[in-house]
Amino acid sequence: MPKNMRRKVIAGNWKMNMLPNEAIEFISRLENEVKDTKNEVILCVPYIDLFYSLLAVQKTNIHVGAQNVFYEESGAYTGEISPKMLKCINVEYVIIGHSERRQYFAETDETVNLKVKASLKEELKPIVCVGESLEQKETGKTENVITTQTEKALKDLTGEDVRNTIIAYEPIWAIGTGKVASANDANESIKKIRGKIKELYGEDVAEDVIILYGGSVKPENAKELFSMSDIDGALVGGASLKVDSFSKIVNFDK
Ligand code: PGA
Repeated sequence: MPKNMRRKVIAGNWKMNMLPNEAIEFISRLENEVKDTKNEVILCVPYIDLFYSLLAVQKTNIHVGAQNVFYEESGAYTGEISPKMLKCINVEYVIIGHSERRQYFAETDETVNLKVKASLKEELKPIVCVGESLEQKETGKTENVITTQTEKALKDLTGEDVRNTIIAYEPIWAIGTGKVASANDANESIKKIRGKIKELYGEDVAEDVIILYGGSVKPENAKELFSMSDIDGALVGGASLKVDSFSKIVNFDK
């Protein structure tokens, strides 16, 4: 499939921000701004906002995702939420392996893989984050880090599973820092990730997989990033907290 057949996906990652009433108001304002887009719009919201957000997005083209999930179905795991729980309220997406979770909450490539598999089993679509640290970048390890993270995250998946998975390439040094990777560098890294998927699953799967860029995406840099051959959209943190900046990113092609 030629590259331009892949849809563009713009996913907001609210992180630990926005109360339910703020989520409802945000969605009611965003709805109008994005109603004509052919790009896919996803909001990944805190657990407490999920139910309210899902009610608010009914009859809109906005999709809702969670920011984490546990890999067991049920049981004595105080404080955790299972894929089945997310699915039963109609959550469609879930971010897995964000660098903040890897850094502060002991997420590993192994738990990422368990969470990806458990989510796909419930037909929840994972948005799997991979990305190198500044030190890894400066010591020339980027390609190795991101292709290894990708391979480990996708371990034991079928080609069909991989087609239902979104990858987000998020260089850690670009997250929340205002330092965006150059469009060329981001595209080259994403090509490496796509190359690894091709090696593991063949060209057809690799050409179908949506791979996003994340890290200080703003209205000012979105258009250039999204014009690159392999960048299929963005995972947006800070700029997803304002309707104005998020809708401008979604409408980059208007
Ligand atoms: P940022 O965050 O856009 O604020 O850099 C991106 C992310 O962490 O997903």
